[in-house]
Amino acid sequence: MSGIDGRPDLILRGADILDGTGAARRRADIAVTGDRIAAIGDLGSVAADREIDCGGRVVTPGFIDVHTHDDRYLLEEPLMPAKASQGVTTVVVGNCGSSLAPYTRPELPKQASAMLDDPRWRFPTAGQYFAALDAGPAAVNSAMLVGHRSLRFNCMDDLERPATDAEIGQMRGQLREALDAGAIGMSTGLFYPGAQKATTAEVAEIASEMRADDGIYTAHIRDEGDRLLESIEEAAEIGRRAGVQVVLSHHKAAGRANFGKTALSLPLIEKLRAGQRIGFDVYPYVASSTALLPAIVDRAQRVHVTWCKGRPEYANRDLDEVARELGGLTRAVAAAALVPAGAIYFTMDEADVRRVVAHPRSMIGSDGIPWDSFPHPRLWGTFPRVLGHYARDEGLLPFALAVHKMTGLPAGEFGLRDRGVLRAGAYADLVVLDPDRIADTATFADPKQPATGIALVMVNGEAVWRDGASTGARPGRALRRQTGTTRGRKD
Ligand code: ZN
Ligand code: CU
Repeated sequence: MSGIDGRPDLILRGADILDGTGAARRRADIAVTGDRIAAIGDLGSVAADREIDCGGRVVTPGFIDVHTHDDRYLLEEPLMPAKASQGVTTVVVGNCGSSLAPYTRPELPKQASAMLDDPRWRFPTAGQYFAALDAGPAAVNSAMLVGHRSLRFNCMDDLERPATDAEIGQMRGQLREALDAGAIGMSTGLFYPGAQKATTAEVAEIASEMRADDGIYTAHIRDEGDRLLESIEEAAEIGRRAGVQVVLSHHKAAGRANFGKTALSLPLIEKLRAGQRIGFDVYPYVASSTALLPAIVDRAQRVHVTWCKGRPEYANRDLDEVARELGGLTRAVAAAALVPAGAIYFTMDEADVRRVVAHPRSMIGSDGIPWDSFPHPRLWGTFPRVLGHYARDEGLLPFALAVHKMTGLPAGEFGLRDRGVLRAGAYADLVVLDPDRIADTATFADPKQPATGIALVMVNGEAVWRDGASTGARPGRALRRQTGTTRGRKD
């Protein structure tokens, strides 16, 4: 008995299934009908229009990239090769306080992310952003967060002070529109210019707007270095005061003086979890990346320029070399001469990265920056690096747990119903991969390189990536916030 109604469109035969829950591999066939998995089991007596022999390969749910800046990439380059090539089937956009919507001003403040610098890709309401994604769908699914910095740009004339009650009210109104349109929550980047003067109370007040909707609050915390623990406490307090779930973004300890601090921060998060819903994500590299900010260049061992608008010849160069060439400038002065620009900062210790990646509750998020000319390799390499390098080659964590961190765990935390798991009735977002070959090939020197070992990636039942190339299909959906899911459970 197959338990299938009708003839499936597709059967994947002889798959080694890792179902996303963390459970061990099991051999089974998978039937797909339309956009859903119709059945999983021994389907030897069932025929389908198309069949794929998976012999020896592993099938997992599609990966969920919980921390992205793909807001514009979805629209501008909808085949999303940097993500589809890794097996990513859903991206969460609008992180670190920056989103393309809502954006209601004609001009752009100097504190804004380069993601916002093209007026064609800014949207006055989240509803209009969703409409654009519906009209021009991408290869992968997306879920959207509202950036707190974008709200500040819209509602405040002077960003270098806390918001007034009236401005907070206005920001709540804009967040309300976005939640009603389907945004899943709000992000902050209190570390960044334009948001540094926002108080704990300001953010908690705005985030309270999400309580009734059970929206999610993702935090690029105020300080990931000297004040790491205090900044985690602040994000947790915002979550408690607002009554919402918290996700700490790209968890790390930055700066040589703070090496080893994740041995304190992870127990702190575990302690907080006893009283509230709080989770975290991580990318598997010792370098971070964001705009080139003169104020922070001295905290890194090394700084690499990823793009430079005014002087493109300095992209893909070491900042110290550039500083020497410019006549023996200090790093900070050289950086000031290059902005607006982007950079990679080598600021972390490998032992901290390993500790966070191995922690059973960490989710995987790339934090990739798709508009950089020479992006941090996390944009193309995050997911295969966790699976190939850290799980298989280094034995840092079980392969099934690594898959869970990028599928079932984030689907639960972000309320993505019927995704992140392989079972009958779930969406057919899935990856066929070779567990012996999967590897990241993107490097700091040559960052735009697709993974090896990914044979097939399907989104909503359609192949988007096959044997090293995009299929051209764009079955991705702009997912709206769903109610009634159990998110951020304390298990
Ligand atoms: Zn960030
Ligand atoms: Cu980010």
